[in-house]
Amino acid sequence: VLNRIKGLSGGRLRISVATTANYFIPTLLGTFSRRYPEVTVSLDVTNREALLQQLSENTVDLVIMGQPPSGLDVEAEVFMENPLVVVAPPEHPLARQKKIPLKRLQEEVFLVREPGSGTRVAMERFFAEREIHLKTGMEVGSNEAIKQSVQAGLGLGLLSRATIEQELELKRLTVLDVAEFPIMRHWYLVHRRGKRLSAVVEVFKEFMLKETRALLLKQTQNPLPPDQKIKKGG
Ligand code: PGA
Repeated sequence: VLNRIKGLSGGRLRISVATTANYFIPTLLGTFSRRYPEVTVSLDVTNREALLQQLSENTVDLVIMGQPPSGLDVEAEVFMENPLVVVAPPEHPLARQKKIPLKRLQEEVFLVREPGSGTRVAMERFFAEREIHLKTGMEVGSNEAIKQSVQAGLGLGLLSRATIEQELELKRLTVLDVAEFPIMRHWYLVHRRGKRLSAVVEVFKEFMLKETRALLLKQTQNPLPPDQKIKKGG
């Protein structure tokens, strides 16, 4: 691998990642950049709709996203689980309840991401399939803003677990124990099928799959109970 990348000074890597993946990708990119300092990385962080656009216009080397698109001819490799969870302020009355029935959520107000968000699509599909009708409050354009709004008591949120590590640690947010949750999505490395990948992109792809394999292994050795394994959301 090293041989292949030698002489690639000026090598460039353009990747775009889902807003939910932004919470762990920079760490991996840090390791990658220390290993291959000659590679210039450009990182775009955006929602699902924009990622689909970039794939369809072929303006990006590699995309890291939830559910790969069905309408585009792409190669997609899964590399990690992406559970979506219901998030509340720690003092919320439901915070200490176990196995909250889905129907109970109908009494709460939910903050939702903007149209174009993959998280929002997955959320809507999940509840529609179960004929649960949520009261939706504010529409909020980022994971960060959802977190702030949930903390401020404006409603509950549905977020990728990866986005709330710090808030859980600092006890600013809590994950509700809701029946059938989490909604289990996955992250994929995606590029157009047949795209000629540069050596840099090949190296990065190998790097990502290898670095995340350990995490994936850990997840499969320690899987979630079957009743929490829900269909992959879109
Ligand atoms: P998003 O995240 O909700 O910002 O579009 C993308 C995804 O997880 O698919």
